[in-house]
Amino acid sequence: MVQFTLPKNSKVKKGKAWNPPPAGAEEGRWREYRIYRFDPETGENPHLDTYWVDMNECGPMVLDALLWIKNTIDPTLTFRRSCREGVCGSCSMNIAGTNTLACTMHADDAKGAIPVYPLPHLKVIKDLVPDMTEFYAQHRSIEPWLKTDTPTPPKEWRQSHEDRQKLDGLYECILCACCSTACPSYWWNGDRYLGPAVLLQAERWVEDSRDERTGERLDELEDPFRLYRCHTILNCTKACPKGLNPAAAIASLKRKMVERSE
Ligand code: SF4
Ligand code: SF4
Ligand code: FES
Repeated sequence: MVQFTLPKNSKVKKGKAWNPPPAGAEEGRWREYRIYRFDPETGENPHLDTYWVDMNECGPMVLDALLWIKNTIDPTLTFRRSCREGVCGSCSMNIAGTNTLACTMHADDAKGAIPVYPLPHLKVIKDLVPDMTEFYAQHRSIEPWLKTDTPTPPKEWRQSHEDRQKLDGLYECILCACCSTACPSYWWNGDRYLGPAVLLQAERWVEDSRDERTGERLDELEDPFRLYRCHTILNCTKACPKGLNPAAAIASLKRKMVERSE
């Protein structure tokens, strides 16, 4: 079997244990978190720090625990968050082995110590903050806005009820990247394969009855890498914290490619 060895400076080392619960602490009151820490400015390897969270003082979600740690124990802990209700997509991370949103994950859904890492296979800027530059550039590359030749109507672009319903399951995407960073094809070819999140967005605009550049949009995807690196492994759909189905959106794009070539 092939054996891989990580470069020395990428190995995750054991870190600091911050605030062990006091002796005789109530059973179940303290929850243990093991959190990935990385600060490029120190030149040190990443490490896993251990924190105990007092559940009598802290809300029930993983994001509550991260905020509690930051506010009461270690202000240097770095992560993204904004809405704290699953709509902005900024608190995506890998919690207890799954890509998900820290604000919608209940701590009780993980057993024992809870490991928290940044989204996998992206460069890490600091601690739980991955570099999303490439991901956003790929999103921009599909031109995610309405494109028309018809002059803009005085009030609004109208759409039938049925056509509007075709966007259900697509428009709800919050671009958290949980799906793309769970996709093996995206891990290996993320520089050329657009990945499930961006392809779901592409389908959203191809499917929009008001858009008048469907052909051009499909032409842009007609490429062995941008679309066709999806091998229907379905990790993406399993990972989506909004319950969307990027694999089905990709299958729909591929079907449209076949239909137009017939
Ligand atoms: S179905 Fe396609 S996009 Fe989804 S995880 Fe598998 S290869 Fe990636
Ligand atoms: S499809 Fe789901 S997992 Fe992927 S970016 Fe959108 S909301 Fe996040
Ligand atoms: S903070 Fe906005 S999705 Fe979690």
